[in-house]
Formats: sequence, C-alpha cells, structure tokens
Amino acid sequence: MPAIVIVGAQWGDEGKGKATDLLGSRVDYVVKPNGGNNAGHTVVVGGEKFELKLLPAGILSPNATPVIGNGVVVNLEALFEEIDGLEARGADTSRLRVSANAHLVAPYHQTMDKVTERFLGKRAIGTTGRGIGPTYMDKVGRLGIRVQDIFDESILRQKIEGALRQKNELLVKLYNRRAITVEEIAEYFLSFCERLRPMVVDSTLLLNEALDEGKVVLMEGGQATYLDVDHGTYPFVTSSNPTAGGASVGSGIGPTRITRSIGIVKAYTTRVGAGPFPTELEDKWGEYLQKTGGEFGVNTGRPRRCGWYDAVMARYAARINGFTDYFLTKLDVLTGIEEIPVCVGYDVDGTLHHQMPVTQTEFHHAVPVYETFPGWEEDITGCRSLEDLPENARAYVLALEELSGAPFSAIGVGPGRDQVIQVRDLIS
Ligand code: GDP
Ligand code: IMO
Ligand code: MG
Repeated sequence: MPAIVIVGAQWGDEGKGKATDLLGSRVDYVVKPNGGNNAGHTVVVGGEKFELKLLPAGILSPNATPVIGNGVVVNLEALFEEIDGLEARGADTSRLRVSANAHLVAPYHQTMDKVTERFLGKRAIGTTGRGIGPTYMDKVGRLGIRVQDIFDESILRQKIEGALRQKNELLVKLYNRRAITVEEIAEYFLSFCERLRPMVVDSTLLLNEALDEGKVVLMEGGQATYLDVDHGTYPFVTSSNPTAGGASVGSGIGPTRITRSIGIVKAYTTRVGAGPFPTELEDKWGEYLQKTGGEFGVNTGRPRRCGWYDAVMARYAARINGFTDYFLTKLDVLTGIEEIPVCVGYDVDGTLHHQMPVTQTEFHHAVPVYETFPGWEEDITGCRSLEDLPENARAYVLALEELSGAPFSAIGVGPGRDQVIQVRDLIS
C-alpha cells in the first residue's frame, strides 16, 4: 500500500495543510518528516479555522494517527501548548506519537537564532526565530539532544554539558549574553518527561509495519522545495530537507515505498523572509494578491511577499521531487484580474533560461519572461469539476499544467475542505 508525500513546491504556505486535510479521512497515518514549529499549516473545517505549527495537520483527521517523525525538531513547550489549544477546541490529540530520535529545541537554540540573525545585519535570513536552524546545527554537529535522552537523566546532563560548553563560549564572549547552566536546561527538559513518555515510539518500526499491513501513510512536509537546505535558494532557506527525499530520511520510510509525490503549488507565488524572488511584485498587484489571498504568515504574522506564478520554479520542483501530481491551490484568488502574467523563462543578463539557473548570481539577476493569459470574472468557489470552470480559468489551469512538469490532479478554489476540483484520485 502506498506511502504518499506532500511537498511544498515554492517557498512555503502553498496550502499543504489543506491538502493533508483533504486526504486525511482516507489515510491511516500522517507523519511530519521535517521542520518544527516554524511551520504554519491552516485547515478550515466547517468554517472553523485551525492553525497547526508543530503538529501535522493530520491531527484533525479523526481516523488517522499523527506522527512526529525522526527528522523533526521538537520544541516541547510549543508541543504541549498546541495540544492543549486543540483539546480546548474539542479535538482529540490522544493518538499522537513522537519519534524517540527526533531532536529537541532547547531555549538556547532560540537565543542563538535571534542573536545570529541580529549579527548578520543586512544579510539576515528573516528566520521565524524559533531556534530551528541552531537545533539542526547541533544535530549535524553531534551536539544535539534527542527525545529519548530526557528519559535518562545521566545521559541528558552529559549531553547538555557538552552542548553548553561551546554555547556558553559563544553566548558570553561573542554575543554578550549571560551563561546558561546545565541545571536550568536539565530541569526544563525533565519537566516534560511524564507527559511525553506515553507518546514516544520507534516511529520507523510503527510506520513500516503499518505499510506491511496495507495501511496508507501520508507524509506532510513542512516548508518547501525552495527552502530546502540543499535544493533551495541557499542561504535564504531553512535548515532541513523539505523535499521528497528528505521525507524518506525524516520518516524512516525507504524511497522504494513512496508511490506518490504530490507537489502543492499556489496559482501565484509568495515568500516570507529574505532572499531572491524573480516574479515578486512591488506594485499594486503585489498588494492585491496579498490582500485578496490573505497572505500573512500563520507563524509570525509577517506579510508575505507576493508575485506571479513562476513555471521555471515549478519545473525545477517537479524534477527535484519526482512529482507524480500537482495540487494547484488558490485559483479563486486570481478571479477578477483582467490579464494574468505567468513566468515562462528568465532573462539572465541577455541569456534566456527555461530551466533554473545553476548559480546564485544568475538567479539574483533573473528577469522573468512573461506570457499573459486572459482572466475571468465569474466566482469559481463553487466549481467542483474542470467543466464547471469558466473557459479562461480552465485555459489558465491547462496552460500552467503544460508548463509545470507534472499533471494537475487537484485544484483548490477556496480555503474550505470541500472547495476543491478533484481531477484524479491522489491516493490509489
Ligand atoms: P501551508 O503552510 O502550506 O499549509 O499553507 P498555509 O496554511 O500557511 O497558507 C495557505 C493559506 O491558503 C491558508 O490560509 C489556507 O486556508 C488557504 N488556502 C488553501 N487552499 C486554498 C484555496 O484553494 N483557495 C483559497 N482562497 N485559500 C486557500
Ligand atoms: P510552512 O510549512 C514559509 C522561512 C522563514 C525564513 C526561512 C528560515 O508553513 O510552509 P527558519 O525559522 O526555518 O530557520 O527560517 O524559512 N520559513 C517559512 N516560510 N512557510 C514556512 O512553513 C516556513 N518555515 C520557514 O520565513 O525565510
Ligand atoms: Mg504555512
């Protein structure tokens, strides 16, 4: 039975939460393979809005077991705050399972995130300030603390001591901050032990046994292809691998078991934080998309930068992730625009590029080459099939599909769970 991965095809906030929720009733497990509480996934059910940060959006699907995978970095304070918030609204979070190998965000990681951003000055990344980068740095640097470590106090203290020896040098000597004691960090982590213990599992065994039994496992990637530390617009990226390959690593589900790789892509483009963005609009259209699309970050409340659809980016994302399908979202936001430009190539210092340029310098110099499509005026939020769409909207979708490198299997026409055109089944 299939393991399916959902991947953001742009710079995040494409509607991965909605896509997960749509499939949620038909899957047995929803795993978050990467990232942490830097994500913000919105799900609208029956007019009620839920915003998930650390938890996979699948937690709102009553029949699915949500799993925080080994590739995630977990802020335990944020985890329990989110659980309590959902429980207070009547959601059942009791099925949640957490990988014993996931790394933990410590208070000093959040401090390091903030001070390093300040230190970078004009070159700052515009991170979410959640300590995500520094936690992944410690993981790769072999100074990390994992979920399982807090259940062995002696190991926990040894690891904290190792991490703090280096951290305190940096904090005190470089960043002019106070030193942190082993005791305060140990106390912080140990305070969560009792509540966390029943959730902790060997998630790779759980998920692979589920696949053996014919269950369906959905991996809900956080962030997106262009925020991937290997494949994104480095250094303006997050510190994990939100691409399809990363989902395999971050869940322990081997690549041969993944049968479907679904790219979630907005009918235009947005970005939060710093970094290059060829189709960015700094005119009234940028403001229009931001306002009409409600483009404000779920996590930090920052306004999202907005621009037209970029088919060069979509083709690259399809290649990197081996997309079998695309889920196009927010088509309804374009309703009422007379002519809709789509970026079909880049002019880089006089050379035309149809594929993503190799170097950062070229991407910074990329000037979009646009093709323009006629818009539509009709309200499309009630459309449920391609035939229901006004002719120009259908032509726009088909043109995008032709340019983007994978078939469009679903099209979002509103934020609600049912506001979708399903062209082909995304699970079987
Ligand atoms: P994620 O991080 O990829 O899960 O996306 P976010 O939740 O951060 O941002 C996507 C926003 O678009 C949310 O407010 C969703 O409710 C909304 N959304 C998703 N799909 C559609 C759609 O097809 N149409 C409209 N109008 N809104 C959508
Ligand atoms: P979802 O899952 C959009 C961006 C930040 C910043 C960069 C690095 O909702 O799509 P980090 O705190 O991760 O070190 O920040 O990545 N970023 C996101 N942008 N959506 C997200 O998640 C993001 N997660 C991180 O704005 O530019
Ligand atoms: Mg988001």
